Amino acid sequence: MSDKQLRGGMVGIGMIFDETYRPFFESAHQDGMFDRRFGDVDVQLAAVGSRTGKRAEAYRSVAPEGMKNFFSATGENAVQEMVAQQDLDFVCVATPDDRHFEVAREVLKAGKHLLVEKPSVLDLHQVDELTKLAEENNVLAKVVYHKLLDPDHKKMRTLVHDGVLQHVNTGYCTLLEPKLISGSQFSEWITGRNPGTYVAVHYIKLIDFSFGGKLKTITATGQRGLVGDKDGTTWDSVQQRLIYEYDDGREAAFDIHTSWVTPDNFPGYVEQEVQFRFDNGVWNGHSRKRGVELTVEGKTPIEMKQSINNHYNGTFVEPWGTRSQRGYGIEVIECFARELAYLKFGGDANEETNRLQELRNLNYNDLSADRQVVAAVHALEVILERAAQGEPDGVVRVNDDNGGLVLYLPGKADPEVLYAPEV
Ligand SMILES: NC(=O)c1ccc[n+]([C@@H]2O[C@H](COP(=O)([O-])OP(=O)(O)OC[C@H]3O[C@@H](n4cnc5c(N)ncnc54)[C@H](O)[C@@H]3O)[C@@H](O)[C@H]2O)c1
Repeated sequence: MSDKQLRGGMVGIGMIFDETYRPFFESAHQDGMFDRRFGDVDVQLAAVGSRTGKRAEAYRSVAPEGMKNFFSATGENAVQEMVAQQDLDFVCVATPDDRHFEVAREVLKAGKHLLVEKPSVLDLHQVDELTKLAEENNVLAKVVYHKLLDPDHKKMRTLVHDGVLQHVNTGYCTLLEPKLISGSQFSEWITGRNPGTYVAVHYIKLIDFSFGGKLKTITATGQRGLVGDKDGTTWDSVQQRLIYEYDDGREAAFDIHTSWVTPDNFPGYVEQEVQFRFDNGVWNGHSRKRGVELTVEGKTPIEMKQSINNHYNGTFVEPWGTRSQRGYGIEVIECFARELAYLKFGGDANEETNRLQELRNLNYNDLSADRQVVAAVHALEVILERAAQGEPDGVVRVNDDNGGLVLYLPGKADPEVLYAPEV
């Protein structure tokens, strides 16, 4: 055990906890974290907050020895209780998309560092409130966008950064999730939700972070009738278009198609593909078909997928014999923990403010750098909501003469200001 410790809390113990947070906490518990800047640091899962405590106890029963003693807070005030009673450094929030804000607010109010799942929040007013709380309480508010750490996307961004790929013009991204997501995994919170906010947000961030520029216009369409009623508020698939403008006045358009109704026997867990066209090149990336095709006699794709993404959170027997679970989905959480270790143990305590600012300047995960992404989500949420109310084909413009985020509906003379300040 090291005398340097980071005590973590976790709110929301569902699929993503199991895929990424659990393996992160388990490997950090076993191996600790080391870096010349901060030394040897222990990371603990010290507390868990949930509504009923059932999943927390299910995890306790299978958690490795030495990790079973976490505090479990339950009920309406679980988050307040865990941050008040436990001496936590940070809290990770992996509740459903539309329940991030309230939990994140409690975490920051209590002066704990925050790591929140994508989409950070659904509304620009919420970003303002959370970034203000983070500043007032001298803590970090960070967001998980693991696709920025996918080696393929890192390579594309490196080529853009180095000027090898010049000036993006158009992009097309797609991410199709299986029916089991909308049919069973998310059945508790799917009503009124859409796959765009859930997964297009990964690509919105990739586009925003990789190419920069100013977001100008957002439009969206969608289809209903499989997950919910054809006239209801729950969407099967969503197509979103974003227009960006760059410093030289030229524009680019990006189309992002998502759904959560792919047959469960699809050969890969999800279908994921991107294409970006530049002035002088084209990037085509297929995250499912990365070259591996696996067929096992007697196994259908429901039991064992044929095209497998071994880069996200694969389970392996390492060449040296140990078992591991690793990939960019886990690495992104470790990056956050390393940032916290650097903040707390990476030098003189009286220089912590400088380190805090240095870490806030990391645009890949700081909430303050998520404004255009949240603007795109905010707009999508409103366009779909209005479409479900019988007012389809809305267009949202960013930073025009009427405000920061402004909705224009066909046949309506007056625009509606969704967010008045500049985005
Ligand atoms: N990083 C990624 O690529 C990735 C992948 C999947 C999901 N996610 C995100 O993670 C979040 C959770 O997704 P999931 O797949 O784990 O969903 P899930 O439905 O499997 O799990 C959500 C969990 O949160 C709990 N919960 C619901 N409301 C709560 C509340 N108010 N307080 C405490 N717990 C609450 C539920 O009981 C459940 O255990 C979502 O925001 C999703 O977008 C991210």
